[in-house]
Amino acid sequence: MNNQSGLILVIFGASGDLTVRKLVPALCDLNNQNLLPEKFAVLGVGRTEMDDNGFRVKMKEGIQHFLANTPCGIPDNHQEAFLKNLYYISINTSDNNDYIKLKQRITELDIMFQMGGNYLFYLATPPNMYEPIINNISAQKLNITPTGSWRHIIIEKPFGYDLATAKELNQKLLKVFHEDQVYRIDHYLGKETVQNILVTRFSNGIFEPLWNRNYIHHIEITSSESIGIENRGGYYDHSGAMRDMVQNHLLQIAALVAMEPPVVSDSKSIRNETLKVFQSLRPLTSTEIENNIIRGQYIPSIIKGAKVLGYREEANVGPCSKTETFVAMKFYIDNWRWSGVPFYIRTGKRLPIRVTEIVITFKPSPHILFTGSELNANQLVIRIQPDEGILLKFGMKVPGAGFKVQETGMDFHYSQLSDVHLPDAYERLLLDCILGDATLYSRGDAVEATWGFIDPVLNLWKEKPEIKLYGYPAGTWGPENSDLLIEGGYSWRYPCKNLTSDVNFCEL
Ligand code: BG6
Repeated sequence: MNNQSGLILVIFGASGDLTVRKLVPALCDLNNQNLLPEKFAVLGVGRTEMDDNGFRVKMKEGIQHFLANTPCGIPDNHQEAFLKNLYYISINTSDNNDYIKLKQRITELDIMFQMGGNYLFYLATPPNMYEPIINNISAQKLNITPTGSWRHIIIEKPFGYDLATAKELNQKLLKVFHEDQVYRIDHYLGKETVQNILVTRFSNGIFEPLWNRNYIHHIEITSSESIGIENRGGYYDHSGAMRDMVQNHLLQIAALVAMEPPVVSDSKSIRNETLKVFQSLRPLTSTEIENNIIRGQYIPSIIKGAKVLGYREEANVGPCSKTETFVAMKFYIDNWRWSGVPFYIRTGKRLPIRVTEIVITFKPSPHILFTGSELNANQLVIRIQPDEGILLKFGMKVPGAGFKVQETGMDFHYSQLSDVHLPDAYERLLLDCILGDATLYSRGDAVEATWGFIDPVLNLWKEKPEIKLYGYPAGTWGPENSDLLIEGGYSWRYPCKNLTSDVNFCEL
């Protein structure tokens, strides 16, 4: 890190959950590793009345709670030194005049600590606040970068509600900032194991030759959560799983799995290649939407002896809500590499376990010589979380008479790297933005392309509410008919907590 440079990180929505759970703990850990500029300040901005000290006390609780799993913890004196860099200002973010106060406070901090005019604005507010905040940043000319400084802006998801609103937001942003100042966050891209998809594919000679329609039968991506919607009914009931998980996190993962090798590993080349994947997504017809997408909603159930509420009983959810808490879908990527290979995505709340993984199922050997090997095509499982790792499944001879085949696996777990701690996604993403590297952020054209792909689904569900929404008991793997989506006698992998177990012994 260049010690000459300073930084003021202005967080809008600083009294909210994201700041205390993710952003400030991530900054504290970065600071502990000496990765932040020597001179830095965080200016929290929110409606809640608080002074600097009140903000520090609240953030300290967050650090202690949410950094509890950091291997050696953060020494107390480092925490105290870090907390001294936190400041807070209470403003009404809808009131233009309050931004004069905000500008004064930023300028004071800049002069006092000689920050060199480097500002990073982080919008961690509800999306309806993005536009007024952007306009007011511009009205106060805080977007104008003095020579030798930088100004970046990070926008949290959801980026838009559909294609039209995403385009509108892009236009508004790009009136005030250049594309290279804008960082649209998708925290899945900050996950170490998601980045490792690129390394697995492009730094090994053995996988890439097989990574195409000639050898791969199908690809499935599952991201299941055991939690329900917690206290987010107000947001979730207007979103649903398609907007909340598929449009962003899961299509981004699909793009990393499907993209062509970039010419070099820079932000432009990598993001150009992922965009090409989004542009190659075969548009879904109405019939395909009805047949190839299963939507579900969790209903009440008993899990481990305790009653669990159904989605419609959750706070701030309509009693007749048709919002989907589960989606399973099949789609195609129409390009040379993937022609005819089905991709499957499955995500849901209140499923048996929290797991995100990619399963590449290879075509079976063309000629069956031995018994027991008929259906067990080789699989490569890339586990994003938990028990992060990679598993390769293949057949071996059962010792003894004859040639009976049994499935076995070779596995790598990140936990084997005892001295390596997997940083939280927000650490990596914040650091990259400070360093000006947008590789792991979504570009405007890519966000529009993914909305363009799912817009027809959202529209059809709206126009034809009679399209089935299946109930599934909380704690199960979603509607049973989602199994029928997968072609060729295969079914989804039903993952367990441990990467290597899936059928006989399954700890949830
Ligand atoms: C968020 C969604 O983007 O991702 C949440 O809004 C979801 O609904 C979360 O729970 C999942 O993230 P992770 O990192 O816990 O898999």
